[in-house]
Amino acid sequence: MPKRKTVIVTGGSQGIGSALVKTFLKRDYNVVATSRNISNSKELPTSPQLSLVDGDIGIASTAAKIVEIAVSRYGSLDALVNNAGIFFTKSFIDYTADDIKQLVSTNMEGFIYITQLTVKQMLTQKSGGSIVSITASLADNPIAGIQASVPMLIKGGIDTITRSLAVEYAKDGIRVNAVAPGVVDTPLHKNDSKDFLKSLSPMGSITDVQEIVDAVIYLTEAPHVTAEVLHVDGGAHVGRW
Ligand SMILES: NC(=O)c1ccc[n+]([C@@H]2O[C@H](COP(=O)([O-])OP(=O)(O)OC[C@H]3O[C@@H](n4cnc5c(N)ncnc54)[C@H](OP(=O)(O)O)[C@@H]3O)[C@@H](O)[C@H]2O)c1
Repeated sequence: MPKRKTVIVTGGSQGIGSALVKTFLKRDYNVVATSRNISNSKELPTSPQLSLVDGDIGIASTAAKIVEIAVSRYGSLDALVNNAGIFFTKSFIDYTADDIKQLVSTNMEGFIYITQLTVKQMLTQKSGGSIVSITASLADNPIAGIQASVPMLIKGGIDTITRSLAVEYAKDGIRVNAVAPGVVDTPLHKNDSKDFLKSLSPMGSITDVQEIVDAVIYLTEAPHVTAEVLHVDGGAHVGRW
């Protein structure tokens, strides 16, 4: 029997993250799921194949703890999904130093530390691996009225580093991809009107969480897909509507 694979999912307590955790468990992965308060999440099952790690993903010691638990409990680390993220909109000139610190910490440092340690572990194992990050379609095609310049600076940067890392580690069999959603039906949008959200894509609809999960699973398991940014956004990254 092939050895069971181990995946880390950041931001696993709700929304896209908790759906990812449940789907990876169904596909017989060991899952290490993490967020600041994941041990209080009501959305996750109890299973010996699931380990929960509480901690702020923007802090390097959290990343070290997550990778250490994956390796010590399950023996290897085969995949990472960088899903944790925060999002808010305001006009560019109104972003405060504190807003910027929060965005850089969670969305950028929260990508870098865990990805560095994951790559390091995968290089030691010499059996390749997959890294998928959740970015955003809005980084490619800004929408008038949605003022997200600073969050998109970072999401766009992650699309860029995805391509750099894919090339840097291609010979080691480590594939690096991203999924760029438009609007997805998660608690992130609990205060936004559905009609307004539907207006943000050419197809006039909101993406179901499972469609993002399916895209992540595809990229995690596709042996020759790397350096790809897969948009799941009803065409929003190219359109005007
Ligand atoms: N929903 C959308 O329309 C949409 C569109 C484009 C891109 N995305 C991206 O998709 C990803 C998931 O979004 P979502 O809609 O599922 O968001 P969500 O429902 O708000 O969930 C965000 C997750 O990130 C965790 N998190 C937030 N800050 C953290 C921190 N400092 N350290 C560790 N974990 C942290 C949260 O858990 P805790 O509170 O317990 O920490 C939660 O598990 C994000 O990267 C988001 O930018 C979403």
